[in-house]
Amino acid sequence: MVKNQSRKVLIAPSILSADFAKLGDEIRDVEQGGSDWIHVDVMDGHFVPNLTIGPTVIKWARKVTKLPLDVHLMIDEPIRYLEDFRKAGSDAITIHVEATKKVHETLDAIKQLGATPGISLRPKTPLQDILPYLDRVELVLIMSVEPGFGGQSFMPEMMDKVRALRKQFRGKISVDGGINLETAPSAVEAGADVLVAGTAIFGQRDRAAAIRQLRQGS
Ligand code: DX5
Ligand code: ZN
Repeated sequence: MVKNQSRKVLIAPSILSADFAKLGDEIRDVEQGGSDWIHVDVMDGHFVPNLTIGPTVIKWARKVTKLPLDVHLMIDEPIRYLEDFRKAGSDAITIHVEATKKVHETLDAIKQLGATPGISLRPKTPLQDILPYLDRVELVLIMSVEPGFGGQSFMPEMMDKVRALRKQFRGKISVDGGINLETAPSAVEAGADVLVAGTAIFGQRDRAAAIRQLRQGS
């Protein structure tokens, strides 16, 4: 495996796997442990068959960390809630290309609100579906599991998307789902800048070690 020596890989712990009864401590723990972003998975029970959190939790998370809040919206018609998510303190807002017909409009609204616009796609969605939007986004989140739940197995074939995208996109590429010490190197080798990891970080007692190992191993 070719090691990534030229660019720094960013680690974004997904709080979906954190203990929500002590979320503030969990966020502080990964911040002190050296994470770069905090990844927040928002699910509406329509776009994906799971329900998680909304702007209220983000508002409180905002108070305990200075790290960028990387908000991954797995919700239908996200334009309806952008202002709420931005006001709550989201720094980057990523929408799914499958979640709306108003993709251009939604991305422009994210930018107008002063957040970093990102786009994501389900594993079954071809890369070409997001190509028309690359000039409007600064972040592409490649799903390496079916969105909806943490703790699933990494789909190695999704790294073909990362490789193809890397050739034509200068912004940040994030890989989300099933990232652990075994899979992280292949994501970085394919061209990922950001590794989102839930179970592999919050499932460990020593989060600093987990973060360090993910970064070094990549
Ligand atoms: C899945 C979410 C992921 C998830 C990753 O829909 O987008 O961010 O939390 O969890 P792990 O790292 O456990 O696969
Ligand atoms: Zn996510």
